[in-house]
Amino acid sequence: MSSSLVLVTGGSGFIGSHVCDALVAGGNEVRCFDNLATSKRSNIAHLEGRSGFMFVEGDICRIEELKAAMSGASAVVHLAALGSVPRSIADPLPSEAANLAGFVNLLEAARHTGVKRIVYASSSSVYGDSAELPKREGTEGRPLSPYAVTKCMDEAYAHLYHHMHGLQLIGLRFFNVFGERQDPEGPYAAAIPKFIRAFLKHESPVVNGDGGQTRDFTYVANAVHAVLCGLAAKDDAAGEVFNIAYGDRFDLLGVIGHLRSHLARIDPEIAHIGVKHAPDRPGDVRDSLADVSKAKKLLGYAPKFDLNAGLDRAVPWYAEHWR
Ligand SMILES: NC(=O)c1ccc[n+]([C@@H]2O[C@H](COP(=O)([O-])OP(=O)(O)OC[C@H]3O[C@@H](n4cnc5c(N)ncnc54)[C@H](O)[C@@H]3O)[C@@H](O)[C@H]2O)c1
Repeated sequence: MSSSLVLVTGGSGFIGSHVCDALVAGGNEVRCFDNLATSKRSNIAHLEGRSGFMFVEGDICRIEELKAAMSGASAVVHLAALGSVPRSIADPLPSEAANLAGFVNLLEAARHTGVKRIVYASSSSVYGDSAELPKREGTEGRPLSPYAVTKCMDEAYAHLYHHMHGLQLIGLRFFNVFGERQDPEGPYAAAIPKFIRAFLKHESPVVNGDGGQTRDFTYVANAVHAVLCGLAAKDDAAGEVFNIAYGDRFDLLGVIGHLRSHLARIDPEIAHIGVKHAPDRPGDVRDSLADVSKAKKLLGYAPKFDLNAGLDRAVPWYAEHWR
């Protein structure tokens, strides 16, 4: 990708802040747009004040703010959303507003400002109740949560705007991304940071269900690499959606075992901490594993970090910031 001005929505979030890092390192100008609903400004504190980087506090639910932020941009990376399946089940309207109405605002703002290339975050949740493994693009089931419905609808709108208005939309279906800066706190925290935080506090991590659920855990550097591939991709990738994962799966108890051994190198007492079980969560799928061959073929996606290589980098960060 040649250097240019890129708007990153959700740019102070977990994945977004890493995307901003990579774009700034690549010599791009970055406009980071976020309403700080689920993120902290400290995620991007190291970028603020650097030439080429600008933070804009704004809401994707307000189209005029989006249009202003988009002016002069050559591409958009759209990551702003309210994540979490349980959050969307507990209170669907805010998820619907940010993830669906906010997405349509983004498409309209792009149509009116002339920005063509948009790389946006979809989710593995679009596979819903499909039992097929590995998950392949084109074998989606019915969504199991309001969050998944919003991501399915985003993909449908993206397809429409690509064919109707020529926008070059590239959808990335992220599978369980983990890494530094992912928030371990709050009721909607993701599994890996929540487990790490519990171990660091010398508490038993709480596993919903029997812990045999499997996931294709994806280190954040792989997700960032996919975003950069999407920005640089040839036009034939536009209008398409891609699985973004490592392409391997681990069950939750297995992940906890890996975390325990990584963390025990830092704090030997953690080696003796067991797990607690809680009831299954509605809306969760049992197994998830991605076929990433489409992204490899059309985007040149080549994930470098498997689970352990990702944990080698993420665990020390949590030990430094959350102990
Ligand atoms: N982390 C994962 O495992 C995962 C998996 C699948 C899909 N995704 C998708 O990837 C994207 C990034 O996720 P993340 O894990 O970095 O989550 P995150 O919560 O850290 O980042 C989302 C960002 O969007 C911002 N935001 C929310 N509503 C907004 C609004 N109305 N206006 C402007 N900004 C708003 C939040 O403040 C936050 O900074 C999301 O679209 C998410 O649905 C993430």
